[in-house]
Amino acid sequence: MATMTDDLARADFGDDFTWGVAHAAYQVEGAWNRDGKGPSIWDTFAHGRSRVPGRRRIRDGSDGDVACDFYHRYESDTDLVRELGFDAQRFSISWPRVLPNGTGRVNHAGLDFYDRVVDACLERGVEPWVTLYHWDLPEDLHRRGGWTDRSVLGWFEEYVDVVAARLGDRVRHWMVVNEPASFTLAGYLAGHHAPGVRSPLKFLAAVHHVNLCQAVGARAIRAHAPDAAVGTTHVITPPRTTGDGPRHQRAARALDAVANRLFLEPNFGLGYPVDDAPFLRLVDRFRRDGDDRAVEVEWDFLGVQYYTRALVHPFPNPLFPGLPAMSKDHRTYDLTAMGWEVQPDGIHQALTQVHAYGKVPRLHVTENGAAFPDRLEGDRVRDPRRTDFYRAHLAEVRRAQRDGVPVHGYFCWSLMDNFEWAEGYVPRFGLVYVDYATQRRVVKDSGRWFQAFLGAGDRATAGS
Ligand code: FCB
Repeated sequence: MATMTDDLARADFGDDFTWGVAHAAYQVEGAWNRDGKGPSIWDTFAHGRSRVPGRRRIRDGSDGDVACDFYHRYESDTDLVRELGFDAQRFSISWPRVLPNGTGRVNHAGLDFYDRVVDACLERGVEPWVTLYHWDLPEDLHRRGGWTDRSVLGWFEEYVDVVAARLGDRVRHWMVVNEPASFTLAGYLAGHHAPGVRSPLKFLAAVHHVNLCQAVGARAIRAHAPDAAVGTTHVITPPRTTGDGPRHQRAARALDAVANRLFLEPNFGLGYPVDDAPFLRLVDRFRRDGDDRAVEVEWDFLGVQYYTRALVHPFPNPLFPGLPAMSKDHRTYDLTAMGWEVQPDGIHQALTQVHAYGKVPRLHVTENGAAFPDRLEGDRVRDPRRTDFYRAHLAEVRRAQRDGVPVHGYFCWSLMDNFEWAEGYVPRFGLVYVDYATQRRVVKDSGRWFQAFLGAGDRATAGS
C-alpha cells in the first residue's frame, strides 16, 4: 500500500511555496580573520579551553576557522543550490565581518562579500533569504556586556541599519534572529555554547534584550526595505511526557514556557509566560517602562524550526532549578547522530502551536533536517535515513497545510555538512557531503532525492 509520503509531490504544497536550503555564517564561511573581519564570541569560544579539566569545548577540538570555506566558494556552492532545484538560499551575516568591533567602523570588504553572495544568488535565480543574527556576536561587544547589557539595543540597530542599507534593495526576505531560545539557553544558562556563561540572571537579561532587539531589528530593516517581508525564526520543541497526571502536565507547561513561549509571546504583545515558569518573573529586573509596547512586533512571517520533541519528567532539573528534568528516549524512537528523537508529527504540532496565536499571516519552516553518520564511498553517499526523515517531515508539513496552517516555505538544514557548534564537524547535516580535507563537495543521495522531487533532475551537474 502506498504511504502518504510516497504520494507526496512538490505541486501538493502549492505555487506560493518556497523550497530552500539554510546555512549560517560561522558554520560555513571560515576566513575567520580575513579581509578585516573582527573576532566573534564563537571564534574566542572555539579557540579557548574548557574550564573543566579533560573536557573540550568543541567535541572534536575543532573550530570554524576554515569550516566549508564558503567565503571563497560561495559561487560554486550557490551553483549547487540551483542544481538541486531549490528556490532560495537562507544564509546569515556575520556581524563582526561587517563591523569588526560591533559598532563604529564599517569593514567595507566584509559588506562587499555579502553583496556578492546576494548577487550570486540572484544571478542563478535563487532568492537570498538573510538572517541578521545567527549567534556570532562581535567579541568586543561581549566584553562590553553583549546581550546582557541594554546598550545592545543601540548596537544592534546600528548593525542592522548598515546591512539593510546595503542589501535592502535586493533582499526580499529578512529574518532578524535565529533561534533566540537556543543561543540564550545554551550560551548564557547552560554555558556549552559561546560565550560560555552560566548565570540565570544573565540569561534573563539576554532574553529580554533579544526580545527588544527583534523589534529594533524589524524597524531598522523596514526603514530601508519597506516592501520586504520581515520575520524571525524560532525553534519549537514541543514537550512530551511519560504520563498524563497534573505533575506531568505542569512539567510540560514549564518546558513549553521556557523553550517556546518565552520568545514568541512578548513580541505578540502577550508578555512573559510567568505563570507556568515562575522563575521568569526575575526578568522584571531588566524591564523598563514602555518595554511592553516597544517589544511588540507585527511580523510578516515567522520561521518555525523543528528538530525534535523534548521528553520531560515530573521532577526538577538538577542543573537548572525551575525547569523540569529531561531525558532521551532511546527505546521508542530512532535517534539521529545528535541523539535527537525522530518524531515527524512534532513538526505538525510545532506549526499548529505557532499558528494558533492567530498573530502571523505566513509561516515558513526555516530549518528542519537531521545528522546521520554518512560515509563517502567513491563518489556516492548513501543516506536513506535522511531521505526518509525529509519525506516523513514533509508529509507532516503538508498535513498541517491541509489543517489550515498557512505554511509557505520549507528550508532544509543544511545545504552541506558544516561546523555544528559544540559538536564540531562530527554530525553531518548536509544534502551535500563535505570532505573537509579537500573541500570537495559530493551530493548525497538525499540531495538527489530532493533534486528529483523538485523537478530539477535535468539541470547540469556541477560541484562535486
Ligand atoms: C539549529 C541551529 C543551526 C544548526 C541546527 C542543527 O538549532 O539554528 O545553526 O546548528 O540546529
